[in-house]
Amino acid sequence: MFTAADFIPETYTSTIEKGNFEWSAPSNIALVKYWGKKENQIPANPSVSFTLNNCKTVTKLTFEKKSISTPHNVTTEFSFDLLFEGKPKEDFKPKIKKFLERIEVYLPFLKDYHFTIDTQNTFPHSSGIASSASGMAALAMNFMNLEKKLNPEMTEDYFYQKASFLARLGSGSACRSVKGNVVVWGTQANIKGSSDLFGVEFPHTIHENFKNYQDTILLVDKGEKQVSSTVGHDLMHNHPYAERRFAQAHENLDQLIAIFESGNLEEFIKVVESEALTLHAMMMTSMPYFILMKPNTLQIINAIWKYRAETNIPVCFTLDAGANVHVLYPENVKEKVLQFIKNELVGFCQNGQYICDEIGEGAIAL
Ligand code: DP6
Repeated sequence: MFTAADFIPETYTSTIEKGNFEWSAPSNIALVKYWGKKENQIPANPSVSFTLNNCKTVTKLTFEKKSISTPHNVTTEFSFDLLFEGKPKEDFKPKIKKFLERIEVYLPFLKDYHFTIDTQNTFPHSSGIASSASGMAALAMNFMNLEKKLNPEMTEDYFYQKASFLARLGSGSACRSVKGNVVVWGTQANIKGSSDLFGVEFPHTIHENFKNYQDTILLVDKGEKQVSSTVGHDLMHNHPYAERRFAQAHENLDQLIAIFESGNLEEFIKVVESEALTLHAMMMTSMPYFILMKPNTLQIINAIWKYRAETNIPVCFTLDAGANVHVLYPENVKEKVLQFIKNELVGFCQNGQYICDEIGEGAIAL
């Protein structure tokens, strides 16, 4: 079993003065949801997600060793500039600083360098799509790339595992955006290698039905969320249904193991839609309670149910912590479902906007 201490490096064998890396990391959509956490970003229950392909963050990390002529500067402070879509972005800095503080013990060289973090998303920045998962994953990949230069003997397994471990400390769901199509995060008895510390590629058989699975993201509401995920997770402490919910996530994940193997889409839909509604039920039964769905979220859900009943096409929805709807369906019904979306769902999207995505592979060095 891994512990966090396994990611504290011993002395480095190599040095590097300056350079740059560039990585992209995708967003992901959870099927079994992470909602509730313990100290140090340890999830209250395991989750599993599809890695996306098109919605991603591209981050370039430029680094230069701080000069010894400014010794006061050398090891006492983090030093970084942050650019978002080419422009300095001061309001993102506190979040990055907090991330650096959390990961410093695992990357003890961080204060030795000045960094420029230049980041952009491939999806509209105000789309309400969570960018913390892709953003933190892309940054973690870059820092691991630097650590690999300092420790060239590092194995590929360690590289990806630690990248996911670091990404988790930035944002929990980010640890599922590093490597693989289907990623599990959180200890689950029946999934060998699963860990609360990092995401792992789903290790069992995945049926052809899930190959190139499609996710069309309907942008229902692009406004700022009234309640952030961080606050929402916190409200699972002393939540009246928390313990039962955490147990249910384990049960649903076990069910998905069998479903991924059999390719049974009817059962897949039941688990996925139930997970989405349970997530929102947890929000509605928190104290204080809140609702992130909008009227159009419900319109879309009802339209999907009606279409599915009429056509038998295995299309379903999931939600993350917001009003947008992820429409999930196998590749072989793509044409029909896209036509349905254009005919019947676009009207419920803000400015008619939606994003076509599909299952992807994870982070990529550019
Ligand atoms: C509803 O990963 O955004 O999308 O760890 O506080 O950064 P923090 O939370 P975050 O929570 C994601 C919650 C979710 C479900 C999921 O992705 O599993």
